[in-house]
Amino acid sequence: MSSPRDPRSDVDLNVPSAARAYDYFLDGAHNFAVDRAFAQQVLHIAPSVPAVARLNRSFLRRVVKFCLEQGVRQFLDLGSGIPTVGNVHEIAQQIDPGSRVVYVDYEPVAYAHARQLLADNPNATIIHADIRRPTDILDHPDTRRLIDFSEPVALLMVGVLLFISDDDRPSELVAAYRERLAPGSFLAISHIASEEAAPELQDEVARLVSAYAAADEHVYVRTRQEVLDWFDDGVSLVEPGLVFLPDWRPDTPVEADSPARPLGYGGVAEVR
Ligand SMILES: C[S@@+](CC[C@H](N)C(=O)[O-])C[C@H]1O[C@@H](n2cnc3c(N)ncnc32)[C@H](O)[C@@H]1O
Repeated sequence: MSSPRDPRSDVDLNVPSAARAYDYFLDGAHNFAVDRAFAQQVLHIAPSVPAVARLNRSFLRRVVKFCLEQGVRQFLDLGSGIPTVGNVHEIAQQIDPGSRVVYVDYEPVAYAHARQLLADNPNATIIHADIRRPTDILDHPDTRRLIDFSEPVALLMVGVLLFISDDDRPSELVAAYRERLAPGSFLAISHIASEEAAPELQDEVARLVSAYAAADEHVYVRTRQEVLDWFDDGVSLVEPGLVFLPDWRPDTPVEADSPARPLGYGGVAEVR
């Protein structure tokens, strides 16, 4: 079990970073040689990974638009990653410049780049913290400044809980954040999956999990039921429920054909 830690301020150039490999898979430029070598190795054994990353990113974009349509103007994005195309604040502030966004990541490059990007943005910031310490984040001065928990908030746990081990009790973690949310808030979760995939895709995911043993983050694959259980008593899933990523309120028909479709679940619930 790895314990929640103070976020690293240094970059270890000998250890590949899951955050920076994800940036590489999304054609980003904020990665180092060690990350690219690792990502190439992952691509070799699990070629579907970039497609899953794109499906996940696209799910995030649709979730943010959905929450805006529901009137939400506050976003808490846990494990936000290295800024890339379609960041939450860009989508939200294009629709309403008054939208407020708090990003959280403990990876130093993700933090540094987001900080730089948001330097002149009074309504968005990033906190350098470990999401396994909910009170550090919920009670952080920047969170208090930008998020009013008496009003609806969109809590985004997109592409992050796959890095949280069972020992770190993801269910309790989700609940700790959810308990702070006012009725009318939304909780969004996406997660890597393989149980409904063809055997060769399941093998790919198993090889991916093995490869990430060498990275700074390990990957945990969960069943649909395990993810469903995180949407606990206090919330109701909105239609279409917890589904494959491209099936969640699609706005383009193209992604439904992706061979990576069964490799991720996504769902959004409204806080009652
Ligand atoms: C795959 S990226 C997802 C980025 C973005 N949410 C998206 O879906 O496009 C996962 C991010 O979660 C961050 N992360 C993983 N575990 C974390 C933790 N315990 N605390 C803070 N950030 C974490 C990683 O550093 C990485 O940037």
